[in-house]
Amino acid sequence: MIERQQPYIRQLHVCINNRNGESKSCAFDGSEEIVEELRKVTKERNLKGKVRVVRSGCLDVCAFGPNMMIWPEGLWYMKVTKEDVPQIIEKYLTLEAADQAK
Ligand code: FES
Repeated sequence: MIERQQPYIRQLHVCINNRNGESKSCAFDGSEEIVEELRKVTKERNLKGKVRVVRSGCLDVCAFGPNMMIWPEGLWYMKVTKEDVPQIIEKYLTLEAADQAK
């Protein structure tokens, strides 16, 4: 085993669990689109290597999905849509600016 610091400044975990409509689930409600949009926008903003977009399993709050969280802060977003992605990236940039001010 090798232990090291995480290589990314922030991780954006998006639940992509899909129950195909049998019960509420994030991917059935569009979370795969959110992942693709996050990846597109992080690439456009040159955040590759700083931000990792992670496809997550069920985060256990399915009724409020699509769910995602920003780590290490543990900020949680529920009922996220593709249209929310620019706002989420702005939040990331605010956190990064706060890091740099330390
Ligand atoms: S299916 Fe996304 S939190 Fe459970």
